[in-house]
Amino acid sequence: MTTIVEATNLRAHYITRAYGVERTVRAVDDISLQVKEGEIYGIAGESGCGKSTLLKVLLGAHRPPLTVVEGSVNYRFGDRQVDVLSSDERITREVRWREVSYIPQGSMHVLNPVRRISSSFHDFITAHQSVSKQEAYDLARNCLRELGLPEKVLSSYPHQLSGGMRQRVTIALATVLWPKLIFADEPTTALDVVVQRGVIQLLRDIQRTKGCTMVLITHDMGVHANLADRIAVVYAGKIVEEADTRTILKNPRHPYTQYLIKSLPKLDDRTERVSIPGRPPALDNPPSGCRFHPRCPLAMDKCRTIDPSMIEVRPGHRAACHVVAEELIHVQTP
Ligand SMILES: Nc1ncnc2c1ncn2[C@@H]1O[C@H](COP(=O)(O)OP(=O)(O)O)[C@@H](O)[C@H]1O
Ligand code: SF4
Ligand SMILES: [Mg+2]
Repeated sequence: MTTIVEATNLRAHYITRAYGVERTVRAVDDISLQVKEGEIYGIAGESGCGKSTLLKVLLGAHRPPLTVVEGSVNYRFGDRQVDVLSSDERITREVRWREVSYIPQGSMHVLNPVRRISSSFHDFITAHQSVSKQEAYDLARNCLRELGLPEKVLSSYPHQLSGGMRQRVTIALATVLWPKLIFADEPTTALDVVVQRGVIQLLRDIQRTKGCTMVLITHDMGVHANLADRIAVVYAGKIVEEADTRTILKNPRHPYTQYLIKSLPKLDDRTERVSIPGRPPALDNPPSGCRFHPRCPLAMDKCRTIDPSMIEVRPGHRAACHVVAEELIHVQTP
């Protein structure tokens, strides 16, 4: 499969200064990943682990105090390559909305409250394509129809729609220009379960009908289980495990991923869910060694001093954990 997004050794820090004291939050710390064309690539992890920050950098949409201190991000569209972090702003902006689209966290609140939905579509479309008012309207209508949303929402104001419908409309808006690549940040968060189901179905339909690639961020492993083809689990600014969704769900190797899976509610299972003790660390002063060690039941001495490197558990499955590495050595040298 062709790689459409490639990030290499990304480090991005929030560098702030207050009362003469500089504070550096290492929100993305040496992340490398590859997103394949046509897949839904999930990025998982608890709140505060750096998911939204990573997405901003993958989009080239980072602004001070967020600074990329190392690494590269490249998009590949056919034989065209875009160096996202060094391209000039104009090219990145052009690519961003024509070929790449972004559904930000809390996006259902971005619709202009005093304009009809049709005007929001019109403004968005005409900002990126030179089309007539009627052509913009037709594009919007076709988009809604394709995604199974009622056309009549075009004449509504945002406050006349339910939260779930507003979210679906903003998702439709982000896809109206047929982007090849969609980044979605927590698109189902803050919605009730029934509405969530509709949004999950919509995202699945978009990926299927438009054949695009999607990078999906959510802390909700249940949503990943329903949508993602592959999952990267992020903890304290680092990817700690990555594999296809089935492997992550059925055979997670990293203790943090194992916790995330155990905390998933299961149908017909009334036993109490295991929640992860403690909280993710503050990223201006993360723990030494493996950043998960203060919460890890398997932590050994070296976990407190040596940061585990990412190793390949088997092709397509990688994890960063000393215990996993030692188990692999035992398997290889019986
Ligand atoms: N503007 C900011 N200034 C300083 N720190 C920030 C800022 N935005 C986010 N952070 C910190 O960066 C870390 C990662 O945040 P974020 O990327 O939003 O995580 P997630 O999306 O996984 O919840 C957190 O520790 C958060 O407090
Ligand atoms: S490296 Fe050590 S502390 Fe980190 S996840 Fe593995 S066993 Fe736990
Ligand atoms: Mg976030």
